[in-house]
Amino acid sequence: MALLLIRNDKNYTPWIDALKKADSSITVVTPETVENPEEVTMAVTWKAPQGSFAKYTNLKAIGSMGAGVDHLFDDPSLPKNISLTRVVDDKLASDMQEFVSALCLNHIRNLKEYAALQAQAKWKPTSYKRAKDVTVGILGFGTLGQAVGNMLSTIGFKVTGWSHSKKDVEQITSYSQNELDRFLAEAEILVCLLPLTDKTEGILNTELFSKLPKGAYLINVARGGHLVETDLIEALNNRQLSGAALDVFHTEPLPQDHLFWNRNDITITPHIASMSNAASVSAQIAENYNRVKNGEELLNTVSSERGY
Ligand code: GLV
Repeated sequence: MALLLIRNDKNYTPWIDALKKADSSITVVTPETVENPEEVTMAVTWKAPQGSFAKYTNLKAIGSMGAGVDHLFDDPSLPKNISLTRVVDDKLASDMQEFVSALCLNHIRNLKEYAALQAQAKWKPTSYKRAKDVTVGILGFGTLGQAVGNMLSTIGFKVTGWSHSKKDVEQITSYSQNELDRFLAEAEILVCLLPLTDKTEGILNTELFSKLPKGAYLINVARGGHLVETDLIEALNNRQLSGAALDVFHTEPLPQDHLFWNRNDITITPHIASMSNAASVSAQIAENYNRVKNGEELLNTVSSERGY
């Protein structure tokens, strides 16, 4: 039996080291080192090239190295009737909490504007908002969304969450599927933390922006595919949105000639909101590998019907 790693960047060393540390009895292979594909029972991947799994005929489970699993479903040849898993990790959650909180505070205290003024040696105090007077709406109120909501609420923001089913979280108003318009009408800062599926692709579009309060601020820390880029530019140009912070893009790295780069109402970061760390998630991957071996139920499974 062996555990196969496949990464688009081929950065295997930290993953092999961490998995060996989690359980030294596991044989860890990569597409480059595998000798007998039939011994592979589980694969753990990050953006595996399409068709990567065809030769592993005894695969029982495929796991994502990160929280997102859209990269698995991007492959039309993903084996059917196989268990799919993702990672759920305290560090992924706390990194996301800190990053989104930083962006929300940065926005209400106008720090981006002051950085631009400093570059021109200009002293120009402007008015600011207090957290307690600002509602942050979290679109996608799952594990990460709730963690982010809790921290924003502790800071003092008014927080709401929207997800498929209502969630019971203290201090936070939770909206379910058919209450999207009510949720949007209150969200002065909208944070997208949705999984990317057929249903959510392109959800950040003109129609959705028009339902937000005028001058709302958009934070996308989910996937580039959620956003219709031309609709964002239009909403910024007509001031329906006052700005956006984007950590994820349709094409990553964001192409050098992309028009987002030159806009001072868009903050760009290179997909660093919350990065999966091999040392932190290897124990749960090793646990799942051993559960496959023992025919036990896996942790953190994903529904291929729902796509998350
Ligand atoms: C990061 O984007 C992840 O899905 O873990």
